[in-house]
Amino acid sequence: METLSSVKKMQDLALSKNKAGIRIGFVPTMGFLHEGHLQLIDVAKKNSDWVVLSIFVNPTQFAPNEDLDRYPRDLARDQKLAAARGVDVCFTPTAEEIYPGGDQSVVLLTELTRGLCGPFRPGHFRGVTTVVAKLFNLVRPDVAIFGEKDYQQLRVLSKMVEDLHFPIEILAVPTFRETDGLAMSSRNVYLSSAERQEATHIVQGLRKAQEALAKGKTSSKQLIQLAKEAMVSGGNIQLEYLEIVDANSLAAVDQVIQPSRILTAVRLNQNRLIDNLPLNP
Ligand code: PAJ
Repeated sequence: METLSSVKKMQDLALSKNKAGIRIGFVPTMGFLHEGHLQLIDVAKKNSDWVVLSIFVNPTQFAPNEDLDRYPRDLARDQKLAAARGVDVCFTPTAEEIYPGGDQSVVLLTELTRGLCGPFRPGHFRGVTTVVAKLFNLVRPDVAIFGEKDYQQLRVLSKMVEDLHFPIEILAVPTFRETDGLAMSSRNVYLSSAERQEATHIVQGLRKAQEALAKGKTSSKQLIQLAKEAMVSGGNIQLEYLEIVDANSLAAVDQVIQPSRILTAVRLNQNRLIDNLPLNP
């Protein structure tokens, strides 16, 4: 595996692969890799000839009060994991090279970023869409892989690709979980053992909604109530939002009679955690 940090070198190499007809698979990440990220690499390997993994803790997607400075990093470990999984190029650009003239040029999605995490993380999606558009222009992928763990991000980026006519196929990978159900996240290292324990209530709550739907309850209000009771039962989880939305448009639904999704963001002391599950009638 080769590691590149120069944007020029990355783009030149990618363009030469494009020319040679080699199908490029791309997995963008912020590093501190876990098994969820590695599953994305596996899907990239199966769907392309040459896999690029980017590791870039993108400053523009963090609000001023967020965890940019303490975001976990371990490049040496990430490189070992990526190489073992068959990544061809690990792309580790610097912020100076990604944002040469500051951040004047932005990509902004309107509707899909208005709800859910949008209001709680001002500027976040603008940072995500902008950096991913830049990375697409550098890595020139045929296929890019994203996790359902960040479901709103997945929908936002799929829409960006459609709206801006990027010639890129987007593949989605289901959320990879710890054995007790907690969604894997680089940020889980922030949790104390008591918090880690209590965090399992999040997915347990979401599963309550899935189970009730399977038994025929379709009212979003009732499903949300059931999920909420289970989530807050430990006493320390505070909901930022808990919503049931159409799986594509992310518009709120009253009745689960089409492919939908239940999504939540919670606060557990100083930590912010997100999760979601499909609700298919
Ligand atoms: P990061 O949080 O590092 O996640 C990188 C990719 O891994 C995203 O597509 C995310 O959805 C996926 N992922 C994270 N945890 C997962 C899990 N438990 N199971 C499956 N997939 C998982 O998301 C970002 O970085 C950034 O916003 C980025 C897209 C790289 C732009 O900066």
